[in-house]
Amino acid sequence: MKKLVVLSGAGVSAESGIKTFRDSDGLWENYNVRDVADIEGWTRNKKLMLDFYNERRRQLKDSRPNRAHEIIAELERWFDVTVVTQNVDNLHEKAGSSKVIHLHGELTKIRPEDRDDSGIVDIGYREVNLGETDYRGVQMRPHIVWFGEAVPMMTPAIEAVSKADIFLIIGTSLNVYPAAGLFHYVSYGIPIYLIDPQPISIGYGNFVQIREKATEGMRRLKEILIENKQ
Ligand code: APR
Repeated sequence: MKKLVVLSGAGVSAESGIKTFRDSDGLWENYNVRDVADIEGWTRNKKLMLDFYNERRRQLKDSRPNRAHEIIAELERWFDVTVVTQNVDNLHEKAGSSKVIHLHGELTKIRPEDRDDSGIVDIGYREVNLGETDYRGVQMRPHIVWFGEAVPMMTPAIEAVSKADIFLIIGTSLNVYPAAGLFHYVSYGIPIYLIDPQPISIGYGNFVQIREKATEGMRRLKEILIENKQ
C-alpha cells in the first residue's frame, strides 16, 4: 500500500465548530498567547492556564468529527495513512484514524509538571485543577506542548514524512515551527496536496492547492486519489 501522510492543523476541525488560532475571531483573538499557551504563562499563572484548557476540554466533549476527518480515516482502505496533527483535539481518532501523531500534545491528557514523557494520564473531558498531583505530590499539568517547549513527537513525524508516497497538508497556516517545516522532509518528486480556502504558498516541489474548506477539499482529493488509483 502506498503511504499517505497528512499534516493537519486547526482548519480541519473548523467545520466541527472548533476555533482556529489565526483566523479573524480565532482562539487567539480572545487570549494573549503568552498567558495561556506559553511555558512562561504556566510559571506565572497556573490557575489561568488550567482554566483555559479545562474550558477547551469541556467543549471537546460534544465536538464531532466532520466529513474531512471521516474521509481521512476512510482513505485507510486504500493507503497506509499516518496523520501528523498540530491539533490537540481527538477528532481524527473519533473519526477512526488509526495512526495519529500529536505534535502539540492532547487535550484529554495530563502529566506531572516536572516530566514531559512519563506519568501521562488520560482524563477524558473532566477538569484538572491546582492541587491535583501525581503520587509524588507533583502538580499535574495539561499534556500540551506550549510555546518555548520541545516538540518530542517531531522525530516519529519526520520518520513518517520522509517515507511518504503522497503528502497532504490540510488546514494549517504553516506559521508555527518545527511543524511548518515538515514538508522539507518529503522525498523529491513526491506529490504534495494542500487543502485550505486561503492561498498558501510553500514554494517547494510540485504541490497542488485545493482552495476549498476541509470537507469539500477532502471530497475532491478522494476523487483524485481513488480515481487515479483505479
Ligand atoms: N477548512 C480548511 N482550512 C481552514 C478552514 C476550513 N474550514 N478554516 C480555516 N482554515 C485554514 C486557515 O486559512 C489557516 O490557513 O486553517 C488554517 C488555520 O491556521 P492557524 O489558525 O494558524 O492554525 P494552525 O496552523 O493549526 O496553528 C498551528 O499554532 O497556536 C499554535 O499550537 C497552536 O497547533 C497550533 C499551531
